Amino acid sequence: MSIREWDQDAIRRDFPVLRREVNGRPLVYLDNAATSQKPVQVIAELTRYYRDYNANIHRGVHTLSQEATAAYEAVRDRVVAFIGARAPEEIVFTRNTTEAINLVAHAYGRAFLQPGDEVVITELEHHSNIVPWQLLRDERGVVLRYVPMLADGTLDMAEARRIIGPRTKLLAVTQMSNALGTIVPVAELAALAHQHGTVVLVDGAQSVPHLPTDVAALGADFLVFSAHKMLGPTGVGVLWARGELLEAMPPFLGGGDMILTVTMEHSTWNAVPHKFEAGTPNIADVIAFGAALDYLAALGMDAVCRHERELLGVALERLATVPGITLYGSADLDARGGVVSFGLEGIHPHDIGQVLDGAGVAIRAGHHCAQPVMQHYGIAATARVSFYLYNTLAEVDALVAAVHEAARFFGRVRV
Ligand code: ALA
Repeated sequence: MSIREWDQDAIRRDFPVLRREVNGRPLVYLDNAATSQKPVQVIAELTRYYRDYNANIHRGVHTLSQEATAAYEAVRDRVVAFIGARAPEEIVFTRNTTEAINLVAHAYGRAFLQPGDEVVITELEHHSNIVPWQLLRDERGVVLRYVPMLADGTLDMAEARRIIGPRTKLLAVTQMSNALGTIVPVAELAALAHQHGTVVLVDGAQSVPHLPTDVAALGADFLVFSAHKMLGPTGVGVLWARGELLEAMPPFLGGGDMILTVTMEHSTWNAVPHKFEAGTPNIADVIAFGAALDYLAALGMDAVCRHERELLGVALERLATVPGITLYGSADLDARGGVVSFGLEGIHPHDIGQVLDGAGVAIRAGHHCAQPVMQHYGIAATARVSFYLYNTLAEVDALVAAVHEAARFFGRVRV
């Protein structure tokens, strides 16, 4: 435990939505891999900006603009501290993880990848880390290769060692599968890739909200993640990149604030990171994201991770007792985050989701924007539970009871 003792009741009091009922039952929110809930500290920061100093940034000499600029830029410093980066110039605010990956595919991919160069991703990726590379392949003739996954939801590292080679110019890999919770040995893959001079993008959409992050230890060249999955508002993503890469890359979007000079003939670019933040950014939500980072830093990410792992261990053990259940992914707790993907024999995951919603339990049912993972198992969908720091063992009880209820209910219907 770090600065603040882990006080589950106090944490839950910070999240107003957790007090509500759904279908007459207390809400049990277990869809955190899709988006997390927001504490009062984040909501207050958002309100404070609009109420007290709403103004555009980097453009005004007036007091409100200066206050807004200072608050926005201060969040860059907090991101630096949160992920062990070196300088605020390495932090670009985007709309989300998806936009950050598209930024790299456009600005880095178009400038530095040649036809025939290989981009390696994995079968575990979600669509955000597949489709931008397919688009680049179709446009630029780069070759897209996949490291396959094994039946237990881990990556086939022997295949990774075979596939990543001198032709690999970019490796883009998730640190944690959103569909299965598998934690990928990113540092090992990055070390392998760097032996061949390969640039490494780590998709931290699922890992940065749940694990301690240190970009130097990861060995990444790019790291991307989203604020809304880590207690922050929607509409804010982060691209961290080694400064030299951002300097070398041409802009992604053109417009105000990303330029130094504009004539009718041509333009010159602002310094990084502003070169990549065209137009008025999402000022309010970036500022509120700062409060989310403070909240997580005060708890300590080691403590967050330990808490979720405890819930995961109990959930896996107890869900395994439900008749007809299939649990997808590895049972090795050290190699997975707080995600449980499962199916019930003869029951569509959407039906499981509906029965659980009837009991106030919110989970995600579907392909989780990771259709290749579903294809690997020969299924269309799973039911997915994903934990966060405010979830409790009592909620695991409620989940397990609701899954038993779904199994019984549909068992009866079938008869
Ligand atoms: N990628 C998000 C999820 O896993 C939306 O649900």
